[in-house]
Amino acid sequence: MSPNNQNKSPRHILITGGAGFIGSNFVHHWCNKYPDDQVIVLDALTYAGNLNNLASLQERKNFRFVKGNIGDRPLVDQILAEEKIDTIAHFAAESHVDRSILGPDAFIQTNIIGTFTLLEAFRKHYPTLEKGLFLHVSTDEVYGSLNPEDAAFTETTAYAPNSPYSASKASSDHLVRAYFHTYNLPTIITNCSNNYGPYHFPEKLIPLMCINILLGKPLPVYGDGQNVRDWLYVLDHCSALDTVINLGKSGETYNVGGNNEVKNIDLVNMLCDLMDELAPNLPVQPARELITFVKDRPGHDRRYAINSNKLQSELGWNPTVTVEEGLRETVKWYLNNRQWWEVLLSEEYQAYYQKVYE
Ligand code: NAD
Ligand code: TYD
Repeated sequence: MSPNNQNKSPRHILITGGAGFIGSNFVHHWCNKYPDDQVIVLDALTYAGNLNNLASLQERKNFRFVKGNIGDRPLVDQILAEEKIDTIAHFAAESHVDRSILGPDAFIQTNIIGTFTLLEAFRKHYPTLEKGLFLHVSTDEVYGSLNPEDAAFTETTAYAPNSPYSASKASSDHLVRAYFHTYNLPTIITNCSNNYGPYHFPEKLIPLMCINILLGKPLPVYGDGQNVRDWLYVLDHCSALDTVINLGKSGETYNVGGNNEVKNIDLVNMLCDLMDELAPNLPVQPARELITFVKDRPGHDRRYAINSNKLQSELGWNPTVTVEEGLRETVKWYLNNRQWWEVLLSEEYQAYYQKVYE
């Protein structure tokens, strides 16, 4: 049995970046599924972190939120020791390609130096444990860009990151791999395609389009809109990570994808049609009238597609949500949670928006 397969409860799990989009969905998933586990969230609450995402968990006895930076070594050491952490699920990152183009510094600090700090702290702490695991949540963007006729990325596809974001994630993946090979630290890397679903920060494609449709604002589609992404419903991602934590093999990499390749323009059209159907009194209808082609993103990767056969055949995971079902749920979520996203359209957000789009 591999070192991470403890098959015993309770775990003491540290979830970094647990106030962000995927992290908070994962925290809810984990707390519901493993109510006896001790769950600690470490999150710096950057612009992308939102404590409202975890509001319903604050009263739980075995849940603790720590506001702090993954690069703060004394703090990380203290949490690992005090909470007897045996499992780290590492989500914390700067995650938006467009922001990495405007200012790469934070990406280097958090994604590379921050991951290095966590690895070093876990290396020191690990000998105090019988078993443990460092799960590093990464992206398919480390593999670069595909042409239309290329086969989907597998775990052995060569790394070819094209943006400061993907380069910083690639760098952290290499560190994680090296800590397994050099120090025998039990690590696993997952490389995942584009996620969508509840709690997604407004600046990413799907929430941005949903919110702009509701506000009657233009829908900015980069370039010719023919770029392809492979969309994965965030709860399918959470179940994949759960599977990997319980059944994955140390030192391995697993790709996670939704088998849902869609061109950006087709996706935006689907969102417009869903909003036309589900939202009462849209400011502009049909919503497709809001679609506006804008200047392309520099170095914009043309296509991502993920082959997740390894995770499916070796560990028995399968995505369960089609893009049609997932988008319908997501549109409903943004319709029903206006108070969640309205407060995020802050001055900082407006300033960012102007820099990218105007
Ligand atoms: P997000 O930007 O929504 O959330 C990131 C979280 O990390 C925020 O809560 C933020 O406050 C926190 N954080 C940032 N810097 C920190 C620091 N120095 N110390 C502590 N906390 C810090 O990101 P997300 O979309 O939820 O992505 C989570 C992880 O999944 C990232 O590692 C990302 O690279 C990876 N990933 C995301 C996608 C996607 O489609 N969103 C796809 C593949 C992989
Ligand atoms: P995004 O959600 O930023 O994810 P990533 O760049 O990590 O794939 O963007 C998804 C796709 O949508 C990507 O091809 C860029 C495109 N896009 C637009 O066309 N307009 C937008 O306003 C945004 C944010 C993204």
